[in-house]
Amino acid sequence: MPTAPSNKGPGQGGAPAGQPDLSDGSDYMWSIPSDNSAVVVLRDGPGGTYVREVTDSKQHKISLSEDEMPTRWYNVLHDVPTPPPPVLHPGTGQPVGPDDLAPLFPMDLILQEVATDQFVEIPGDVLDVYRLWRPSPLYRAHRLEKALGTPARIYYKYEGVSPAGSHKPNTAVPQAYYNAKAGIKKLTTETGAGQWGTALAFACAQYDLECEVWQVRASYDQKPYRKFMMEIFGATVHPSPSDLTDAGRKILAESPDSTGSLGIAISEAVEMAAGNPTVNYALGSVLNHVLMHQTIIGEEALLQLAKVGEKPDLLVGCTGGGSNFGGLAFPFLREKWAGNMDPVVRAVEPSACPSLTQGTYAYDFGDTIGMTPLMKMHTLGHDFVPDPIHAGGLRYHGMSPLLSHLYEEGHLEAIARPQLDCFAAGVLFARSEGIVPAPEPTHALAAAVEEAQRCTETGEEKVILTALCGHGHLDLPAYDAYLTGQMTDRDWNDSEIQTSVARALEKLPALA
Ligand SMILES: Cc1ncc(COP(=O)(O)O)c(C=O)c1O
Repeated sequence: MPTAPSNKGPGQGGAPAGQPDLSDGSDYMWSIPSDNSAVVVLRDGPGGTYVREVTDSKQHKISLSEDEMPTRWYNVLHDVPTPPPPVLHPGTGQPVGPDDLAPLFPMDLILQEVATDQFVEIPGDVLDVYRLWRPSPLYRAHRLEKALGTPARIYYKYEGVSPAGSHKPNTAVPQAYYNAKAGIKKLTTETGAGQWGTALAFACAQYDLECEVWQVRASYDQKPYRKFMMEIFGATVHPSPSDLTDAGRKILAESPDSTGSLGIAISEAVEMAAGNPTVNYALGSVLNHVLMHQTIIGEEALLQLAKVGEKPDLLVGCTGGGSNFGGLAFPFLREKWAGNMDPVVRAVEPSACPSLTQGTYAYDFGDTIGMTPLMKMHTLGHDFVPDPIHAGGLRYHGMSPLLSHLYEEGHLEAIARPQLDCFAAGVLFARSEGIVPAPEPTHALAAAVEEAQRCTETGEEKVILTALCGHGHLDLPAYDAYLTGQMTDRDWNDSEIQTSVARALEKLPALA
C-alpha cells in the first residue's frame, strides 16, 4: 500500500496536480497517489495535519446520470425464437381478446400485454416519476468478493433505492399512469411481501388514484410496518383471506386459520375490481407488460457494465412471479441471441415454493378461486398454499408464462434453495456490503455466493451479475428469526407436489 504523500494541509499551499484544491480552509483534502492505487484522506486536526485513512481506490458504484436513463422498455416477445402459447378464456377455451381483459385493465396495458414491437416508449410523465430514484446504481461487490476469497467479479444492480425499497415501482408507476389516463378512480391489488402494495400505493398517490390492497395474512402479521407504509401513501389495507369478498369468505369457511397466499389475495382483489367500472386491478408480476416495465433494470445494467468493460458470464436472480428476474435478464438475452455475449441465465426460487423446478408446465389459473384466464406456466396447482416462509414475494403457485416458456425452450436454468441457506448469504452480504437485503433477493445472493465459491476452487474469474431487487429494512423480524435459530426449512418431495398439481388441474374446465 503506498504511503501518504507528504501533505500540505488546508491553507498550506494547495493540492497535488489534478486533485481538488481545498486550500480555502475546508476540512478535508483528498489526494490520489500517482499509481492511482489508493486514496489517502488527510484531515486538518488541532495539532496539525494527520493521516486519517488509507484505502484501495476501487470503484464501487457504477452510476448513470439522469440523462443516460433509458427511455424505452424492451419487449422480449419481439425476439423470442418461438412464440409462447396464448392465454385462454376458461369458458370457451379460446385465446382471450382485449374485451375479456377490459373489466380489469386499461386498453394501453392490454395492448402492451400482446405487443410485439421490440421497444415501447416510456411516457414522459412516467420517466419524470422514475427520476425520483432512477437510474439505480450498479455496485461491484468488492467486499463480498474479499470475504469469499474469490477471483470472481460480482456485480449487483440495486433496486432498493426506490420509494418502496424494491423494483416494484418500475411497473406500479406506469400501471397507475395508464389507469389514470383511462379515467379509472381506484386500483385494487394483492401483496405478498408488502413491497408491491407499497409500490402501488406510492404510484396511486402520484396520479390521485385510490388504492385498496389485500395483504397475504402471513405477511400482514410478519410485517406490520409495510401496512403503515401503504397507509402513509394513502392506501387501505386488508389481511387476506378477508371476509370482504366471496373468495375470502369461502377460504375462511374451509380453513379459518389460513395464512393466505398470493393466489387467494389475487382472487379477492380481482373480485373487487371486476364488479365496478371505475375500479381496475393491478398485478405486480407474472404478466408480459409487468416484465416489460421491469426491463429498465436490465437496460441500465447493460449500459453500466459497458462503462467498466464487462460482460456477465452468469446472471442470477430470484423468481416469485418472475418480474425482477425477467427485467434484468431480458435485455441480456437479447444481446445473447444477437451473439454479443454468452451469459448463463439462472433463476433461483425457494425450496418451499418450487414452481419452475418441481411444478408442471400446464394451463392453470393465476389465482386460487379461478377468476383469471388460464395461463400456460409452471404451476404447483392454483390452490397450493406454500409454507409462510419469510420471502413472501416468492410464495406464488405459478410462474410468469413468458419465463416458463423461455425455461421450457432452454434459454434459462432454474434452481431452488432453502431459506436458511438464503439468509446465511443475506447476512454475509449485509456484513460485507452494508445493505440488508430483502428476503427474496437473498435467494439470488445464495446462488451468486455458490458460484463465486466454485470460482475460488477452479480459479475462474467469472463475472457474476445479480439483481438485488430490494432492501430488507422492514423485514428485520425475519433476520431475528434466523439469528436466534428459530427459522426452519420446508422442502416438498415430488409426490407431494404432483398430488397438489393433479388435484388443482382436475378442477380446470376441459380445454379443446
Ligand atoms: C423484494 C421482492 N423481490 C422479489 C419479489 C418477487 O417478485 P418477482 O418475481 O415478480 O420479482 C417480490 C415480490 O413481492 C419482492 O417484493
